[in-house]
Amino acid sequence: MLTDKIVLLTGAGGLLGQAVAAMMEREGATLALIDLHREKLDRVRSTLRCQDHRAFECDVSDCDRFQSLLESIVSEIGCPDVLVNCHGVIASKLLVDMELSEWRRVFEANVFGTLVTSRAVARLWIERGREGVIVNLSSMSVRSPRAGASHYGASKAAVENMTQTWAAELGRNGIRVNAVAPGLIMDEVITEADAASDGYVADTLQATPLGRTGSASDVAEAIVFLASDRAAWLSGTVVDVTGGAHCGRTHMRIASAPDAR
Ligand SMILES: NC(=O)c1ccc[n+]([C@@H]2O[C@H](COP(=O)([O-])OP(=O)(O)OC[C@H]3O[C@@H](n4cnc5c(N)ncnc54)[C@H](O)[C@@H]3O)[C@@H](O)[C@H]2O)c1
Repeated sequence: MLTDKIVLLTGAGGLLGQAVAAMMEREGATLALIDLHREKLDRVRSTLRCQDHRAFECDVSDCDRFQSLLESIVSEIGCPDVLVNCHGVIASKLLVDMELSEWRRVFEANVFGTLVTSRAVARLWIERGREGVIVNLSSMSVRSPRAGASHYGASKAAVENMTQTWAAELGRNGIRVNAVAPGLIMDEVITEADAASDGYVADTLQATPLGRTGSASDVAEAIVFLASDRAAWLSGTVVDVTGGAHCGRTHMRIASAPDAR
């Protein structure tokens, strides 16, 4: 349970952010919802029952803006207990078509944004002698790279390394840092039978042992678990939530003979 916990949730207006907000509210948390877009924040806010949650428009890669927002959140709501870095840019571009600005855009949000929020919150916790939990969002693209996702996959590989390095640095302060690496999550769960019209989804499902795309709540369950005291001795862990797709070569037929590889 997250009763009486204050959760700072970035990317709150996104597909996963909305599911995390709903599940964390059910677990008893008070939420500080952050996103780039006011209209997305209004939408997620309207789906929540409790009026104590607050929503803030902020680009988390803007260090000064985030720092002053964090100070307002502490004075208006209280010191956060949990930070969930659920913001991010999902992108697709082949190397030969890649503009440097596109690479920078992805790193700015996924890597720099995660650094800005985590550093500010970790400093706050250490100054106040408080324990805390950070949950970052990685991706299946780290262990199972796909064409067109070198910038995205590399940014998420950086997030996984940051997660494990920060777990090493902050453990003695009672701060746990973990990540969740989702596979393909869409608005609606799609099974192999439905996927024929979309080549990308069909290919992904061919290599997904559990035979369907994930739901936002599949991922939110893992995030809420890592944020809670039920995961009190987990730090530096990356939880793959992929239906088994991150295991690699999951779609291959059995080799006919030992030398057939
Ligand atoms: N959906 C998937 O299949 C999937 C798979 C693997 C990993 N992920 C990761 O999970 C996270 C959430 O994904 P999603 O599916 O909800 O994506 P989404 O695009 O629906 O939501 C992302 C949210 O982050 C916000 N955002 C982006 N940059 C920001 C910034 N600089 N400051 C503040 N807010 C910012 C966007 O406005 C958006 O509301 C991302 O990090 C994504 O890379 C998603």
